[in-house]
Amino acid sequence: MANILIIYSTTDGHTREICLRLKQVIEDAGNQITLVDVGHSSAIDLGSFDKIVIGASIRYGKHSPAIYEFVKENARVLDSKPNAFFTVNVVARKPEKNTPETNPYLKKFLKQITWKPKTLAVFAGKIDYQRYGFVDRSMIRFIMWITKGPTDPATNIEFTDWDKVEAFGRVVSDM
Ligand SMILES: Cc1cc2nc3c(=O)[nH]c(=O)nc-3n(C[C@H](O)[C@H](O)[C@H](O)COP(=O)(O)O)c2cc1C
Repeated sequence: MANILIIYSTTDGHTREICLRLKQVIEDAGNQITLVDVGHSSAIDLGSFDKIVIGASIRYGKHSPAIYEFVKENARVLDSKPNAFFTVNVVARKPEKNTPETNPYLKKFLKQITWKPKTLAVFAGKIDYQRYGFVDRSMIRFIMWITKGPTDPATNIEFTDWDKVEAFGRVVSDM
């Protein structure tokens, strides 16, 4: 049994949903798991975990500054354990952009940090226009129009491949 920590960053809760599914799979494999929002991570003793996973969503082309800070401050301890990183974004709804090698945000992120995650994953996120304020809704609809995604303001669509999330959970259990 391993004691596994997942640190996540979410704005609308979808990355947390993904973490909850991972928790289920990882616990079913007999491990213990703790989920912590990166905003509350300073109180966590990273040394007490056997494996660390970080997950973060993309907003306007970037992962949250708190994730960059966490990774920068803890690169050494991260590198000393089995570890993984996953990103959540809607560009990943496109099959040609949904792997660590092809997702532009993940590629960019890895160039910006010194930590070298040992395991990587990319998950497509969710669009729920009714949830966003006017500016965000208008911006995302515009981006979707450019990238040939859904623009109907009533759209509430989850692009996430949950089988892929569960498969990643098994990889984390075994890493
Ligand atoms: C304001 C806003 C900006 C976003 N910007 C991007 C973006 O630049 N690229 C992208 O692929 N997805 C973008 N997304 C989609 C999110 O990554 C997606 O909704 C994800 O599921 C959000 O996860 P979260 O709820 O954990 O934050 C954006 C979403 C919102 C609401």
